[in-house]
Amino acid sequence: MSNDKKSISDINVRDKKILLRCDFNIPLDKDTGAITDDGRIISALPTIRYLLDQGAAVIACSHLGRPGGKRSSEFSLRVVGDRLTELLGKPVKVAMDVIGEDARRLAGALKPGEIMLLENLRFHPEEEENDPEFARELASLADIFVEDAFGSVHRAHASIEGVSHFLPAVAGFLLEKELFHIGGALLNPKPPFVAVLGGSKVSDKLGLIENLLERADTLIIGGGMAYTFIKARGGDIGASICEEDKLEYVRAVTVKAEKLGKRLLLPADSFIADSPEDTNPPEVVLSFNIPEGKMGLDIGPKAANEFVSIIKDAGTVIWNGPMGLYENQKYSNGTRMVAIAMTDPHIISIVGGGDSAAATRSFGLEGRVTHVSTGGGATLEFLEGRALPGIECLLDKDDTSI
Ligand code: 3PG
Repeated sequence: MSNDKKSISDINVRDKKILLRCDFNIPLDKDTGAITDDGRIISALPTIRYLLDQGAAVIACSHLGRPGGKRSSEFSLRVVGDRLTELLGKPVKVAMDVIGEDARRLAGALKPGEIMLLENLRFHPEEEENDPEFARELASLADIFVEDAFGSVHRAHASIEGVSHFLPAVAGFLLEKELFHIGGALLNPKPPFVAVLGGSKVSDKLGLIENLLERADTLIIGGGMAYTFIKARGGDIGASICEEDKLEYVRAVTVKAEKLGKRLLLPADSFIADSPEDTNPPEVVLSFNIPEGKMGLDIGPKAANEFVSIIKDAGTVIWNGPMGLYENQKYSNGTRMVAIAMTDPHIISIVGGGDSAAATRSFGLEGRVTHVSTGGGATLEFLEGRALPGIECLLDKDDTSI
């Protein structure tokens, strides 16, 4: 696996038509269809602006949602085209199709310094099937393929991997930035390297636990998944979330951590309640002694203080997954304290996408950590150390073919 990929700054794009794969899979309001978070559009701007300034013509493309291979107005990218037009201060024409007559006509007429957007790639089932003929048609619109959809590089789809068989393929600035920060933290961390993992289920994080156990000096486990670890060590966890079928697995992880001489820390205490809907103020108890019928919904104050001091003494921290049900203010303390600790300027702090990124944003701390990943599933798979199709297919930095 090489993360040292050729990028747009390594090649000449003047007067070239660029097929630019972005991840404009953004949340929309269910009732009005309006964009509720344009973060992924904003993240694409540095690449778009650079390409336009350099005299390239940009044919941007993306998927939006999961329309299941069928055209549907609900999943149209027009709303993204409108927002891009506002942000760039220049018109972004949106084709009525992807590889049809309208897309071809607009792409054919596109001049250097102009940008257009294709319709939702997933209106065609061939996109997710990585159909070579569909990829060839898509590629025929342009001279160069630029991959900037970091959030989708784990998908071997036509617009992510397939087109690289027909066009020279290089990284955009967003992808390059993600590889630099996350890849750098994983492969060349400033020690001590601390991984903070949370979220509700161990089963979602198996690959992540394994890879980070090998690489990090300390693994901190919080969130719902901590209770499976606590039960495996003989603790009483009451009605806390537990994956019985993962008890053996987490026992093996604990043994492996000991063998490797790694610290594996669990929350000493927890905020508990009868259920997430319980209206009483939460109590604090030791995480190994949770009474019957009660469930842990956030790490407790002692655990939060301990985790914070380990984070602050670290050289590099990767954080993936909240410490509790942070969306509910009553159970947000642990996640908030971890997020604040991540802003310590002495550490390289990487927020690994998904819920932890959303939490960091909700606390207004996004600009104060080293990097917040734009990926969800892609970030997780990258952190698991997997080779991802949308990265593997790009030209290596030392390639001289372009
Ligand atoms: C994401 O939001 O994680 C990406 O856009 C990928 O979307 P998908 O899970 O529908 O492939």
